[in-house]
Amino acid sequence: MARTDNDTWDLASSVGVTATMVAASRALASKSERPLINDPFAEPLVRAVGVDLFVRLVSGELKPADLQDENDRSSTSLPQMTDNVAVRTKFYDEFFVDATGAGIRQVVILASGLDSRAYRLSWPDGTTVYEIDQPQVIEFKSRTLAEMGAQPTAHRRTVAIDLRDDWPAALRAAGFHAGQPTAWSAEGLLGYLPPEAQDRLLDTVTTLSAPGSRIATESMPRRDDTLRERLKEHMRTVSERWRKHGLDLDMTELLYFGDRNEAAPYLSGRGWQISASSTRELFAANGLPPLDDDFPFADRLYVIGTLTDKK
Ligand SMILES: C[S@@+](CC[C@H](N)C(=O)[O-])C[C@H]1O[C@@H](n2cnc3c(N)ncnc32)[C@H](O)[C@@H]1O
Repeated sequence: MARTDNDTWDLASSVGVTATMVAASRALASKSERPLINDPFAEPLVRAVGVDLFVRLVSGELKPADLQDENDRSSTSLPQMTDNVAVRTKFYDEFFVDATGAGIRQVVILASGLDSRAYRLSWPDGTTVYEIDQPQVIEFKSRTLAEMGAQPTAHRRTVAIDLRDDWPAALRAAGFHAGQPTAWSAEGLLGYLPPEAQDRLLDTVTTLSAPGSRIATESMPRRDDTLRERLKEHMRTVSERWRKHGLDLDMTELLYFGDRNEAAPYLSGRGWQISASSTRELFAANGLPPLDDDFPFADRLYVIGTLTDKK
């Protein structure tokens, strides 16, 4: 179903499925021969959500190869997509280790989905991790991890709200202090926001950030028609493959494909000092096979910003 301005979801529907999909990739990546990441909560969370295709994948009942047919191109293969999530997870894990190593004790994970960093990273004493996502997503993860007996490794505070609504008020009400430096992440989020909501989110993050705050996010190169079509084609292939295995979800309907500002220069214009690596570079740095030229996310930038000169 096409997106609307105030649509909602749980982890088995609409945009929520994408959180379950990346958690399934983290589960597979954690079990790979040479794992780059270790997320022990990903598999039980995916099983608890219960989307049949992902449950069969994380349990090993369905092999990644079973999802491929001979006409599929490798740029949409599950191993390549799993490696993509592995390098991305490692990038954000390292971002938080570095930021807290530098003394930041306030962390905000925007669109936390089934991210279990508040339970699996070794946070310094006195760190508070705020997680923001839609109410049903937050409620499900909190309840499932509590039922598993999992204990957060930081002070974990949840903010159950839509990021198109007045989330700063809800974040403050949960205890957030704008005067204190913050490490923010917006992982796998921006494309699910309308372009103007992305700008508003980055503006708000800047307003709420004390000097020395850091942010990690992704920045897609400006989409000309060729890239836009390649991205849609990729999503169609993946959606079609899922449909054959019982998951009926059109990925092309979940993202906003219209023109949008690139996050990296946008943040730079608001006073964040930026460093960035492309997916292609992260694959090479982690010793993974080079990405196919037609992999639509190869040039996506993983960005770290430090707020030096707020504008
Ligand atoms: C691809 S998932 C990424 C989840 C998590 N960051 C990760 O990498 O595992 C996208 C997430 O964005 C959240 N999301 C997208 N739009 C949102 C909005 N308007 N308000 C709150 N959450 C949103 C979804 O609920 C989902 O958890």
